[in-house]
Amino acid sequence: MDCLVCHDTTGKYKKDPPAAGMPEKDVDLKLVAENVGHSSRATCGACHFNGGGGDAIKHADMSRQLLEPDRNCDVHMGGYDFSCTECHKTRNHKISGRSSSVPVAEGEVTCQQCHSEEPHYCGSLLDHHLNKHAKTLDCNVCHSPVFAKCKATKTWWDWSKAGDKNRKPKKDKYGQPDYDWKKGEFKWEESAVPSYAWDSGYMNRVLIGDKVNINAAVINLTEPVGSIKDPASKITPFKIMKGVQAVDTDNNYIIVPHLFPRDKEDKTAYWKNLDWEKAFEDGMKSVGLAYSGAYRWKETWMYWRLEHEVMPADMALSCVQCHDSLKGEKTCNRCHQDNRDVDFKNIAHKGTDFSFMKSQGRDVEHLIEKTDYINFKALGYKGDPIIHGGRFKKLPMGYKDQ
Ligand code: HEC
Ligand code: HEC
Ligand code: HEC
Ligand code: HEC
Ligand code: HEC
Ligand code: HEC
Ligand code: HEC
Repeated sequence: MDCLVCHDTTGKYKKDPPAAGMPEKDVDLKLVAENVGHSSRATCGACHFNGGGGDAIKHADMSRQLLEPDRNCDVHMGGYDFSCTECHKTRNHKISGRSSSVPVAEGEVTCQQCHSEEPHYCGSLLDHHLNKHAKTLDCNVCHSPVFAKCKATKTWWDWSKAGDKNRKPKKDKYGQPDYDWKKGEFKWEESAVPSYAWDSGYMNRVLIGDKVNINAAVINLTEPVGSIKDPASKITPFKIMKGVQAVDTDNNYIIVPHLFPRDKEDKTAYWKNLDWEKAFEDGMKSVGLAYSGAYRWKETWMYWRLEHEVMPADMALSCVQCHDSLKGEKTCNRCHQDNRDVDFKNIAHKGTDFSFMKSQGRDVEHLIEKTDYINFKALGYKGDPIIHGGRFKKLPMGYKDQ
C-alpha cells in the first residue's frame, strides 16, 4: 500500500480504479504531501467500508455510516469519536485485529483489553449475572443485538444470474437494487438478527485452490470452530454472507473469474464479453491454477464476525429477552428473596428497546417482546438454561417452571 492512502488528511487523494493502485491524474500530490497526518475513519474506511466492491456490502458493521455515526449506531465511533486505531493499536505499521476471512494477523483486538473480563462494575444488581454470562457469551451478543442497524448490507449474491442486460433492477424497501447485470441477483437486510454460533477464536477457511466438497448442500468459505462442550468457546454473533459461485467440478475448487477488462482489446473479461467460460479460463490462469472446463454453480456461505456497531449500554439485551422463564410477575425473586426496595420485575425487563428503534424507522417490529433471542435449542441447549441447566451444570436449587 502507498503511504498517502492512510496518511492523507485533505480527503482529496483518490485512486483511479483501473490503474492498479495509482492515484488519479488530477490529484494535487504536493498539497496532499504537505498535509499528511494520522490515519482516520475516513482513510481506513476508504478501503474497508467498500469491502466486497461497494459501501456496506461485505461487512455488516462497517460502512460510510461510520464517518459521522449517530451514538446509537456505534457508541465508540459515534458517542466517543474513536478513530479506528484507538482500538486497532498500531506499532511499526503492524495493525492489530484478526479478520474472519484472511489468516494473517498482527495482534488481536478484544473488548476485554479495555473493559476487562468483568466489565460490569457499576454496582447494579445485574453486574454479577452479566459478568458470569460474559464467560459464555461474546460481548456483542448483548451489545450489538442487530447488525446493519443503520444501513442495509448485502446478504445474498447470486453470480449465476448475471449477464441479463435487459433485466431492470428493482429497488427493495431499503432502496437497494435486486439486480446488476455485471454481478447477478442480490438481497439486502437492515437491522437483522445475527446468526449465532459457538466460536473458539479459530476459523476454518477455504483459500484459493483448496479442495471443497462439491456434494455438500452449502460450501462454507469461512466458518467458526467451536462447540458447546468447549469451555473456551463462546456464543458469537455473525453475519453470514450467502451467495452462489462457480466451482470447478473436476478439480473441486472455487473458480476465480476474470471480470474487469484490462484494456479495450480484452476478449475474456466477463464484464465486457459476458462469456463465463472464457472469464474462468483467464481468471484461473492468472492465479496459476488449472481450469478443467467443467463447472457448476454452488451455494457458498461466509461467516463474518460482528465487531463494530456496539450500541449504548442501556440498549443491551437483558434477562427477559433471552429467558422466557423470567417473563411475568415473578422474575429475580423466583431465585432470590423478595426485597421490597427493589423492583425486580423492572430490572429484568429493561433491555434493548425495539419499540424505540422502530420509532426511529428501523425494521425491527418483529423483535418487540421476543423472549428467546438467541434460540437456545439451535445452540445445543435443551431449552432455557434457567430451567434445563447451563452447558456444564444445573442450578442447585431444583428450580421448576410453574
Ligand atoms: C494501512 C495504513 C497505513 C499505511 C499504508 C501507512 N501507514 Fe504510516 N501509520 C499508520 C498508522 C495506523 C500509524 C499509527 C498512528 C496513526 O494512527 O496514525 C502510522 C504511523 C506512521 C508514522 C509515525 C507517526 C507518529 O506519530 O508516530 C509515520 C512517520 C508513518 N506512519 C509513515 C508512513 C509512511 C512513510 C508510509 C509509506 C511507506 C506509511 N506510513 C504507510 C497507517 C499506515
Ligand atoms: C488501501 C486499502 C486499505 C486501507 C487504506 C486499509 N486497509 Fe486494512 N485491509 C485491507 C485489505 C485488502 C485487507 C485484507 C483483508 C480483507 O480481505 O478484508 C485488510 C485487512 C485489515 C485487517 C484484518 C487483519 C489482517 O491482517 O488481515 C484489519 C484489522 C485492518 N485491515 C484494519 C485497517 C485499519 C485500522 C486501517 C487504517 C489505519 C486500514 N486497515 C487501512 C485494505 C486496506
Ligand atoms: C471499539 C473498538 C473498535 C473500533 C473503534 C474499530 N474496531 Fe475494527 N475491530 C474491533 C475488534 C474488537 C475486532 C476483532 C479483532 C480480533 O478479533 O482480533 C475488529 C475487527 C476488524 C476487522 C476485521 C473484521 C473481520 O472479521 O474480517 C477490520 C477489517 C476492522 N476491524 C476495521 C476497522 C476499521 C476500518 C475501523 C474504523 C472505521 C475500526 N475497525 C474501528 C474493534 C474496533
Ligand atoms: C448477557 C448480556 C451481556 C453480555 C454478555 C455483556 N454485557 Fe455488557 N451490559 C449488558 C447490560 C444489560 C448492561 C446494562 C447494565 C445495567 O443496566 O446495569 C451492560 C453494560 C455494560 C457496560 C456499561 C458499564 C456498566 O457496568 O453498566 C459496559 C462497558 C459493558 N456492558 C461492556 C461489556 C463487555 C466488554 C462485555 C464482554 C466482555 C459485555 N459487556 C458482555 C449486557 C451484557
Ligand atoms: C480501545 C479500548 C476499547 C475497546 C477495544 C472497546 N471499548 Fe468499549 N469503551 C471504551 C471507552 C473508553 C468507553 C467510554 C467510557 C466507558 O464507558 O468506559 C467505552 C464504552 C463502552 C460501552 C458503554 C457505552 C455507553 O456509554 O453507553 C459499551 C457497552 C462498550 N464500550 C462495549 C464494548 C464492546 C462490546 C467492545 C468490543 C467489541 C468494546 N467496547 C471495545 C473503550 C474500548
Ligand atoms: C443473550 C442472551 C442472554 C441474556 C440477555 C441473559 N442470559 Fe442468562 N443465560 C444465557 C445463556 C446462554 C446461559 C447458559 C450459560 C451456560 O451454558 O453456562 C444463561 C444462563 C443463566 C443462568 C444460569 C443457569 C445455570 O444453570 O447455569 C441464570 C441464573 C441466568 N442466565 C440469569 C440471567 C439474568 C438474571 C439475566 C439478566 C441480567 C440474563 N440471564 C440474561 C443467555 C442469556
Ligand atoms: C434462576 C435463578 C436465578 C435468577 C432468576 C436470578 N438469579 Fe441472581 N443468582 C442466582 C444464583 C444461583 C446466584 C449465586 C451465584 C451464582 O451461582 O452465580 C445468584 C447471584 C446473584 C447476585 C450476587 C449475590 C451475591 O451474594 O453476591 C446478585 C446481585 C443477583 N444474583 C441478582 C439477581 C437479579 C437482579 C436477578 C433478576 C434480574 C437475578 N439475580 C435473577 C440465581 C438466579
